[in-house]
Amino acid sequence: MNLLKLVTLLSLATSLLLAAPKTKENTQIKALIKMGQTSSKLLLKTLASNMKKNMKAGGPLQALDFCSQEAYTLTEKVNQKLPNGVRVKRISSKFRNPANKPTGNEQVVLESLQKLKDANILLPKQLIQKVDANTYKYYKPLIIKKQVCLKCHGDVKETDLKRAIAERYPIDKAMHYKMGDLRGAIVVTITK
Ligand code: HEC
Repeated sequence: MNLLKLVTLLSLATSLLLAAPKTKENTQIKALIKMGQTSSKLLLKTLASNMKKNMKAGGPLQALDFCSQEAYTLTEKVNQKLPNGVRVKRISSKFRNPANKPTGNEQVVLESLQKLKDANILLPKQLIQKVDANTYKYYKPLIIKKQVCLKCHGDVKETDLKRAIAERYPIDKAMHYKMGDLRGAIVVTITK
């Protein structure tokens, strides 16, 4: 064996050794990200297409009816389609439906995202939180990017719509948002 071959073999062996534990972790993280992306996309697509349909058919009032009656049921339906041990939901510090209130470890993530945003730091597309040895949470930050969101989450002026929101959500916190604001996040909980 010539010297060049020996050196190549040795460096190959060391890099394989060094890479071994990392690769396992990387594969696990990649799988978590993939699961998070597919699940969050499925929820977002389901809600968005239904919202559009209702907005077109009957404007914000009908879309509001849809959101208040169906958003939660649709989320449950999406969950039934996901593999065992995977659940998706929406959270917000300034929530409209109290069922979307973040739990302790989720609140920490939302607060951190808000702090980054306030410091003009571009937010990552996703975050992974290790909850315990068997549980991870995937977060996808939700930013207000479309004007239509402000119809129901901005400075709502239409009196009918305002009243309808107040009737359904007496402790609504989800108003007065502006374009580019952090609205909340999609959370995918993945249990081994
Ligand atoms: C027609 C009114 C309407 C429009 C338009 C609308 N929303 Fe909502 N949104 C609601 C209602 C009602 C709820 C509460 C749903 C429930 O009861 O689960 C809600 C809930 C949410 C939540 C869950 C957290 C919470 O506050 O309960 C997020 C996140 C959210 N909306 C983001 C958006 C974004 C982003 C857009 C724009 C793409 C948007 N919404 C457009 C009415 C609307």
